[in-house]
Amino acid sequence: MSRPLTIALSKGRILEQTLPLLAAAGIEPAEDPQSSRRLVLPTNRDDVEIVIVRASDVPTYVQYGAAAVGIAGKDVLVEHGGEGLYEPLDLGIARCRLMLAGPAEPPPVPPRRPRVATKYVRSTRRYFAGQGRQVEIIKLYGSMELAPLVGLSDWIVDLVDTGGTLRANGLAPYETIADITSRLIVNKAAMKTRHGPIRALVDALRDAVDARAA
Ligand code: ATP
Ligand code: PRP
Repeated sequence: MSRPLTIALSKGRILEQTLPLLAAAGIEPAEDPQSSRRLVLPTNRDDVEIVIVRASDVPTYVQYGAAAVGIAGKDVLVEHGGEGLYEPLDLGIARCRLMLAGPAEPPPVPPRRPRVATKYVRSTRRYFAGQGRQVEIIKLYGSMELAPLVGLSDWIVDLVDTGGTLRANGLAPYETIADITSRLIVNKAAMKTRHGPIRALVDALRDAVDARAA
């Protein structure tokens, strides 16, 4: 038999919300991926395996064909750039918004370009460039909400769902930059060389997404 089709997933909310869709498509991991320390997980199907990677690494694994398909947030895909990838299906999971946020009671505007702390440098640059606004972008890898509290930045660009994290830190949402959901991504070359199994997976997941929406 040919090598199995590899699906790249990240632990946490994407895995949690993807497993029911995969189950509806007839794919179940052989052991619980949330608790397992294994990074390559066989499934009930000999022709499908799951690999567990960091959320922001999923597009890289798929771009280079180390995984034929993967599931990643649109936030992560925009930062990656989408090179070598198709994005055939919006799974509608891990729904949130990429937002500009800052102090709920903003201090006086400083006489310099506003500083924006974010993990999402590309989206942030594009957003402010599109508006012709000059800002200084400060790259962080997490806990963006801290930056305005300690004077590192004036604003942040981060993901917001309930708004609870912003509120807990005395921050408020200012503007929505993008609506975010997770997408199925496919390696462009694999889409040609392994068209049959990939098409079957895309169709089965689309049916699962439609059935959930109905
Ligand atoms: P990494 O491990 O690479 O730093 P991460 O910690 O951001 O990634 P998760 O928190 O599991 O990973 O987020 C995975 C994806 O889920 C994000 O890319 C985004 O699309 C979505 N997401 C993040 N936060 C939320 C949220 N609060 N509500 C809904 N979806 C979210
Ligand atoms: C994400 C995001 C925000 C928070 C927003 O963090 O980075 O901090 O969710 O969600 P809320 O509006 O519902 O509060 P997450 O919970 O994934 O933690 P992380 O920093 O470990 O990614």
